[in-house]
Order: sequence, then structure tokens, then C-alpha cells
Amino acid sequence: MTIDSTIYAMRRKRLLETMQRGIAIVPTAPEVARNGDTRYGYRFDSNFYYLSGFAEPEAVLVLVASQDKNSETQSILFCREKNLEREVWDGYRTGPDAAKDEYGFDAAYPIAQLDEKLAELMGNQPALFYPVGHDTAWDQRILRLRGEVQAKARSGIRAPNEIHDVRTLLNEMRLFKDEHELMMMRHAAEISTHAHRRAMRFTRPGQFEYQLEAELLHEFCRHGARFPAYPSIVAGGAHACVLHYVGNNARLKDGDLLLIDAGCELDGYASDITRTFPVNGRFSAAQKDVYELVLAAQSAAIAVARPGKTWNAPHDAALSVLAQGFIDLKLCQGSVDAVLESESYKRFYMHRTGHWLGMDVHDVGNYKTGDNWRALQTSMVFTVEPGCYIRPADDVPQALWNIGIRIEDDVAITELGNEVLTAAAPKTVAEIEELMRT
Ligand code: GLY
Ligand code: MN
Ligand code: MN
Repeated sequence: MTIDSTIYAMRRKRLLETMQRGIAIVPTAPEVARNGDTRYGYRFDSNFYYLSGFAEPEAVLVLVASQDKNSETQSILFCREKNLEREVWDGYRTGPDAAKDEYGFDAAYPIAQLDEKLAELMGNQPALFYPVGHDTAWDQRILRLRGEVQAKARSGIRAPNEIHDVRTLLNEMRLFKDEHELMMMRHAAEISTHAHRRAMRFTRPGQFEYQLEAELLHEFCRHGARFPAYPSIVAGGAHACVLHYVGNNARLKDGDLLLIDAGCELDGYASDITRTFPVNGRFSAAQKDVYELVLAAQSAAIAVARPGKTWNAPHDAALSVLAQGFIDLKLCQGSVDAVLESESYKRFYMHRTGHWLGMDVHDVGNYKTGDNWRALQTSMVFTVEPGCYIRPADDVPQALWNIGIRIEDDVAITELGNEVLTAAAPKTVAEIEELMRT
């Protein structure tokens, strides 16, 4: 594999500059047992991969920001040693020597030397940065090592006095996507649009939801995205009103809608698309009324996703449209202001209109600065995903029962407005019906 190690080296440099002083410890994720001696497919820790590009388990990145301007700042990887016997069974291991050269670290050591070297590296560092509280075993390990350094006080070595959560710095960095990330996210989004088109083409009454799930996975994998970014939601009829439905095991009925919320992960980057369409390829009049409403809400939200607006502007824009629509559909009563004020819309629209998107599907980054929603800025990426979920009830028009609709796209803020990364997934009634007819 060829790795553009400079991207990761630049990110490490930026983190070191933000830290100013001290030592940062960023472990990758553990392997997780599924059952017996079988493991879940391995997924690295997002922060670790963001800073290293190194995908193997059992690895830790250590960054040392020196206060001494003459001493070199150090970027050190601890990873598995080469082991020809294990490699026969489990596959290639890069090993410290090759990792140092290929990934551009200042040094690399076997993971077995981590404790010993860390205790040395922590000495005389004023501050310690790591993901505090993320993993109890790491909390204990790091405090134990710090204790070992403290025990050397009489020989003049000081232990770090301050402990900071390195994620506070990393979350803010990751919120603003660099060129490489935007490229990866465009690509992940594009693959997911292919998957949604394929699902629309393959959907027929009588199929099981999991058969469409298989079509999605087929398309992800076919394009090199080996894993979904989150469990796919394939929800026919009333199941669409269960927000996190992942059973995916029911038969699709003629006359029902199908809601699919699915996106692939590509080289650590998520995409997140929802489309809702008729199982038989034609929207009924009632389905179309609700669909057009959600689509109008989404258009209104995307229209205000631009620099100078706040994080909450798309949500507010979607809500205003939905509130009026819920009144027109006789789902809510009173004026738009009254519906918004009383939050009676929440019975039919109970989630927010989006979330940051990046290496994690619900990505890191604060939504507020102090008490205020933060301003949207170039290279932030998030989803815009209004919906409407109507459960049967005596005070709800029967024609609308069990209609569940969500429309979700991935949007990057640009200098002039935004770029909808997932625009190639059919979205209007005409586009969907056309695709499903052919
Ligand atoms: N697929 C998860 C979400 O839409 O938030
Ligand atoms: Mn989402
Ligand atoms: Mn989604």
C-alpha cells in the first residue's frame, strides 16, 4: 500500500502546535470478541487513524511537544512486531522499522516496550494529553505510569502536573475537513448513492428487507467500501416509524413505503443517506403529500446551510415548513407559532435535522460555543435529514397511518454556500418513480 504519510504528519504537527507543551498518548481501538474465538471486523480508533493512517490493531501513537525550541518534536509509534509465524495465520504486520519509514514517524518501537518507554517520555513533561475516561483500563495504566514517574522525584524527575483530554483539541480539528478528507467523503458519498439507486431498482413487493440490505452491501463492497458506516436501516411500512429499526427481517408489502438509511465507510470516512420510496414504484396520493412536505422541509434546510448561518438554522428552517405541513395535513392544530411553541410537532418529528459527519457517523465537534449555536464555516460537513413519522391514532387521519419518511443528504459548507455530496441519489417523486419504472 502506498500511503501519503505527509497528510498525517501535518495533522500531528498541528496537534503539537495546539498542545504547545507536554506529551500526548493516543491508542488505537482494541479488537472485540464476537463469540468464541471469533472477532468483529476490526475498526481502528478514529483519532488514532486521523493522526497516523495506521490501520493495525495493538498500536499507540505518542507525541512529544518539547518546550525546548532546539530539541526535535517527536512523533512515535508503538506497534506489533514482525512475527513470521503469526503472519502465516493472520496476515501481514508492518512492524516498527517499516512503519517508521512508510508512515513518517520519528521513531517506532514494539508495543511490548510501551510502558517502559512511556515512563521515560513522561518524565519532566508539564502536561499529559490523552482520551481521559474513554477506556478505564487506559485511565488506570496512564495513572500508574505517571505514579512511577512521580516515584522518581528524588532523582529530580518531575511527572506531568496537568492532565487534559486530547479529544478537546482533536474534536475541533476534525470538525473542519481538510482536502484529503473532503475527497474521501465525496467518494464515500458517491458509493452510497450507487447503493441507494441499486436498492430502488431491486425493490419488489414480497421481498424481505434483508434482501435489499444485501444489495446495499453488495454495492458498497463492489466499490471498495468494505463496511457500512453504521447498521443499515431497511424499514418497510410501519417499521419506518421506528427511528433505529435494524431488524430488517420483514416482508415488503405492495402499497407500503420503504425507508432505507444506509451509508458506507470508506477508509475511515462515513456517508449517511436516507431515501424513502414506494415498494411498488408508485407513491399513493397520501404518501406523496407527506413526501413532498418532507422534501420541501429538506430543501428549506439545505438553502440555509451556508457560511454566516448558525448550526441551528437548517433545523429551524425545516421545522417551520413541517409545522405548516402538519397543520395542513390535520396532524397538528393551531398556528405555526403555536405548533412550534407547544412542540406538538414532536409527536411526528422527534429528532433533530442533522449531525456532524466525518470519521464517525455522528462525528465529533461542538454544536455550540458557550450558549450560542456555532456559526457554519467552510469545510464543516453534516447531514440534513428531516422526517415525518405517523403512528396510528384516533386523532390522526387514517390515510396517513404508518407513513414514515426521512430524506437525508450529506452537505459540506463551501465559501459560497454548500455542496450536497449525496445529490446523485434520486430524491424527487418523479426521479424515484422514473428509476423504479426502468
Ligand atoms: N444513520 C444514522 C443517522 O442518520 O443519524
Ligand atoms: Mn444521519
Ligand atoms: Mn442516516
